[in-house]
Amino acid sequence: MKAGGNAMDAAIATQLALAVVYPGAGNLGGGGFTVARMGDGTNLTIDYREKAPGKAHRDMYLDAAGNAQLSLSQHGHLAAGVPGTVAGLFTCHKYAKLPFVTLIQPAIELAEKGFVLTDDEARSLNRSAESFAKHNTMMPAFVRSGGWKAGDTLIQKDLAGTLKRIRKKGQAGFYEGETARLIVEEMQRGRGIISAEDLKNYSAKERPPVVFDYKGYSIITMPLPSSGGVLLPQMMNMIAQQPVKKYGFHSVQAVQLMTEIERRAYADRAKYLGDVDFYKVPVQQLISEPYARERMKDYDPQKAGSSTATQAGMLPESEETTHFSVYDSAGNAVSVTTTLNGGYGSHTVVGRAGFLLNNEMDDFSVKPGVPNMYGAVGADANAIAAGKRMLSSMTPTIVLKNNKPYIITGTPGGTTITTSVFQTLVNLLEFDMSAEDAVNKPKFHHQWLPDEIAVEKDFPQSVRDQLQQMGYKIVQRGSIGRTELIVVWPNGKIEAIADKRGEDHAAGF
Ligand code: GLY
Repeated sequence: MKAGGNAMDAAIATQLALAVVYPGAGNLGGGGFTVARMGDGTNLTIDYREKAPGKAHRDMYLDAAGNAQLSLSQHGHLAAGVPGTVAGLFTCHKYAKLPFVTLIQPAIELAEKGFVLTDDEARSLNRSAESFAKHNTMMPAFVRSGGWKAGDTLIQKDLAGTLKRIRKKGQAGFYEGETARLIVEEMQRGRGIISAEDLKNYSAKERPPVVFDYKGYSIITMPLPSSGGVLLPQMMNMIAQQPVKKYGFHSVQAVQLMTEIERRAYADRAKYLGDVDFYKVPVQQLISEPYARERMKDYDPQKAGSSTATQAGMLPESEETTHFSVYDSAGNAVSVTTTLNGGYGSHTVVGRAGFLLNNEMDDFSVKPGVPNMYGAVGADANAIAAGKRMLSSMTPTIVLKNNKPYIITGTPGGTTITTSVFQTLVNLLEFDMSAEDAVNKPKFHHQWLPDEIAVEKDFPQSVRDQLQQMGYKIVQRGSIGRTELIVVWPNGKIEAIADKRGEDHAAGF
């Protein structure tokens, strides 16, 4: 931005840099969503979610006895969807100001000259070394004999070569020519199914944003295939009808209410949500206020609900993703969530091209009722079909106040993404919290199945105890999300908060 670019330039350059310095989730071989509110008042969303390859089919992960083979949907060549990120970056570039060659240059230098690993990064790579060895046909740069330690420099020459081909040929530098050839050769060595045709035919898609009102705020978020585009308005509609502010942050009543809201929304996710290009999803009904009212009719503030009793509403018919938020002086706000799915995706690196492939195929429902790596279940709406995009939880979101960007947020975290965004918004809009508290205070999560409330380690013990007495099953888990938040306060002060749960960073000038 100091070189004259806008927030979109910064978002593109950041994604490219993350593809080098954050191999766990930053990517060329994955996909993502960008939501933006441009200074001229335009709202836009760009969908560069991966697609199922042309040879994919509904039962591709079932063995002869019909059992789901999750090892195939989660790791190795067959787990990868057709990557969307590079097409997405070039679609985003329509809204940027600087030449793409300028934006990609820092990433090339980081790959070519290397970057210094932190202790966490070194440990994380070492933890995956065995799996890298198992799922690759050529040993990738991520494996070092004797292991990595803090202060080592990770150089990625093959990745630099791929980035240079993109610099020279644009989108075709990835989806055609040498990079495409290397991907197809990798597929042949590892019995994967992504073809040259799949790559050539991939395109990102600009979709009409989901824009909904919450007590006078205008909330802009990503439509399907982001489940957040349905779940966030649904949950905000349900909570708008309840006195959550009066209950107070982390009161038993507020946590129980929000749990029951999350339960109902995620039950609908499992049944109704999938790629709208392939499946008719009753979005307008799901996000309507009367439907939210109907869904909460059986809510009992005195006792734990149950996911057996609460099914989808009746209508007339080592998780890793990464998020960042950008805001500039021209009023452009950009919110980007991008992913390989699990940490290091499929763990398969394209030989001589140096980038990891996603394991996004696991975000499809590989068999009705069989949970994926996030424990999420699905049905027909999210069944595998050639060319279809798998359902996502990524929920990059922008809130407008008086028609101007107020909150820019999003998070990684698999199925906990939508509840983290929901809770961050409720923390700011209902509990009047500081930006820092809205991000860093302990979060909780309910996703219908499994029927349990997951809480972070520092979630208040007394609230846990009381919820347990009401009949809830409580499980403790690691971090819920790594929420990156910018708040533009009414006095013009801009606050950027990097989640304390990770090695995250906020900067401004
Ligand atoms: N793979 C994480 C998500 O898209 O929800």
